[in-house]
Amino acid sequence: MSIDQFIREREKTVLDELSEFLRIPSISTLSEHNDDCRRAAQWIADHLADLGCQTALLASETHPVVWAEGPPAPGKPTVLVYGHYDVQPPDPLSLWDTPPFEPTIRDGNIYARGATDDKGQLFSIVQAFEAVVRDGDPPVNVRFLIEGQEESGGEVLTDLLQREPERVVADAVLVADMPYYARGWPAIYTALRGICYCEITVQTLDGDLHSGLYGGVAPNAHETLVHILAQLKSPSGKIRIPGLYEAVVRPPKAERDAWKRLPFNERAYMRREVGSRALTGLARSTPLERTWALPTFEIHGIAGGFTGEGAKTVIPAVASAKVSLRLVPKQKAKTVERQLRKRVKELAPRYARVKVDLIHSADPVIADVTAPPFDQIRRAFREVEGREAVPIRSGGSIPIVPTLASGGAPVVLAGIGLPDDRLHAPNEKLSVEQFWKGVKVFGRFFELMGE
Ligand code: BES
Ligand code: MN
Ligand code: MN
Repeated sequence: MSIDQFIREREKTVLDELSEFLRIPSISTLSEHNDDCRRAAQWIADHLADLGCQTALLASETHPVVWAEGPPAPGKPTVLVYGHYDVQPPDPLSLWDTPPFEPTIRDGNIYARGATDDKGQLFSIVQAFEAVVRDGDPPVNVRFLIEGQEESGGEVLTDLLQREPERVVADAVLVADMPYYARGWPAIYTALRGICYCEITVQTLDGDLHSGLYGGVAPNAHETLVHILAQLKSPSGKIRIPGLYEAVVRPPKAERDAWKRLPFNERAYMRREVGSRALTGLARSTPLERTWALPTFEIHGIAGGFTGEGAKTVIPAVASAKVSLRLVPKQKAKTVERQLRKRVKELAPRYARVKVDLIHSADPVIADVTAPPFDQIRRAFREVEGREAVPIRSGGSIPIVPTLASGGAPVVLAGIGLPDDRLHAPNEKLSVEQFWKGVKVFGRFFELMGE
């Protein structure tokens, strides 16, 4: 039976199934949602078992890795599908038009936390898998490796694959956790950035003090912290950490030229997608180079002191900030962590106790997209979309990808989201049309891999 026929039959019921999955608030970074993470793992495992897979929940009680093996296709290649069932926290709740864990279909989109990142995209592959295996005679051997800590940089899957590296032995790894370049423009990703996420804590006093009695003599932890932070990046956007740019290589001219041919309207990007009145960063590089091929330093939040209602006259003793650096190919997360620690220590005044704690880190990824499975995914996109997939990079990170590549299988990074899906933000959505395109593209990918 053809994939198109499968889609016609399932159009009505599949979104109800996806909604069930989306209703589980599997927020991996908040421990009060540990049970929900386990429930989401069990839900997708049960679903795959119903489709004839051998399944197992591995390596953690609270955030298990889901492993599933489809019916064997002797003599055929093996495709390993990676996805994640965990999601980011939905706050601020007041900005959602409908609640994040009550999936709602409106103007051709399904709105929910995880709709595009990554439950919806993963589920489109699961549908594609069902379409090609349900008549018996599967075109390829399909394995699923679905984690529950992608969004929190957890160690469960990394440790599991360290102990059991044979799980990533395959002819291709498929990761659909990223968007098209633009509507109608499918993309194959040639690189992902890495990340080094830390918390910086500054203590300047044994305890908080009255700002009238001691103001003028007592060192203020917030003042000290923001002083350190402000020196980590120049107003022109250059990160001031010695050695940081040493490993940064400019993308080859051919690649930069290809990026210049992509449709890109800087003003519309700034106003509508970014929603700002200026673009920051190193002005001699284009915005695409700045988001795809240069490191970043961001401050995510600053805590401590008094931020409640009204006024409190206090000199805070402790202040902390969550910060991260995004890393580009050739940079090493371990090296960058060391460079950041060293610089922060140097910037700290003698009177301050300053500590840098690593929260999580991941190396960047560069993919050679000339290997065999790329011909198949390109052809699948061409057939479904009528346009050649464009090779692009992403500013985002998927920490496990270097480990997925360690078995030698080419990793295909290609999803069906759209750039305005608002992942990690209020009103995250997935276009229903894109979901069905995903079923077709990934279904064709499986078929073509088997030919
Ligand atoms: N799916 C995203 C990463 C992504 C988005 C890659 C768009 C390519 C294009 C993933 O779920 C994600 O958000 N990753 C985190 C990783 C971090 C928490 C270690 C990220 O990039 O912030
Ligand atoms: Mn994701
Ligand atoms: Mn994400």
